[in-house]
Amino acid sequence: MSAHHHSSSSFTDAIGVFDSGVGGLSVLRAIRDALPAENLVYVADSGHAPYGDQSEAHITQRTLTVGNWLASAGVKAITVACNTATVVAIRHLREQIDIPVVAIEPAIKPAANKTRSGVVAVLATTQTLQSESVARLCQEHGEGKRILLQACPGWVEAVEMADLDSLRTQALLRQFVEPLISEGADTFVLGCTHYPFLRGALQRIVGEQVALIDPAVAVATELTRRLGNNLLTHAKTLGSTRFFTTGNVAHVQQVVSHLWGDGAIVESMA
Ligand code: DGL
Repeated sequence: MSAHHHSSSSFTDAIGVFDSGVGGLSVLRAIRDALPAENLVYVADSGHAPYGDQSEAHITQRTLTVGNWLASAGVKAITVACNTATVVAIRHLREQIDIPVVAIEPAIKPAANKTRSGVVAVLATTQTLQSESVARLCQEHGEGKRILLQACPGWVEAVEMADLDSLRTQALLRQFVEPLISEGADTFVLGCTHYPFLRGALQRIVGEQVALIDPAVAVATELTRRLGNNLLTHAKTLGSTRFFTTGNVAHVQQVVSHLWGDGAIVESMA
């Protein structure tokens, strides 16, 4: 599925998906499964990552740059597969382009509905947790619940190195998650698209009784709804999947091969 049907400057009728790095591949996977015939173009903005600890101005500027690059290359819709970019910058991107823009934000609502202990933990980047969107979600859905907000520095970097389950990574996961378990959290929101790649290691630490909530499938469903009959392809063949990065192509190639599969070919976003 790495066939190159388009030149790099023409993604007509493709769906653009982007993140600060490889985390958004967890969303791309859900989109690929939901829409097998669509051509997908993924951008890992690894040259400017991680976003989570940087200024709002930087995140906004990067979101607009990548979003406009995809839009001018002709994509028919964009999925922002990054919670940080969504909560900081999505409204600016929507002001600048007139194709559908679908975004991911922390799944606080489903988690609040699901918890039985009444304690929900939201794992995300510092910028995401400081955002008005998260404050609003907590206010709207947190009534009678305790919602614990936990930034997880180092997790994004571990995924960017495809280091998903080393002893070092396990220690990094335990450091933030064990105190939340002690507080009684039984439902964890994976509020950063990198974190689903740590699901296996996380689940072993928190135990099978604790739910880890990832909204990627809901995002793919929302994208499908937004495309509707008019924009969905009616092709009967499988779509292509192309990968671009602003970072070091050789490194990103290695990580994408690990997280996505051997057929992936990473190109430079020139
Ligand atoms: N994957 C991004 C998110 O969903 C952020 C990672 C980063 O800090 O760059 O928030």
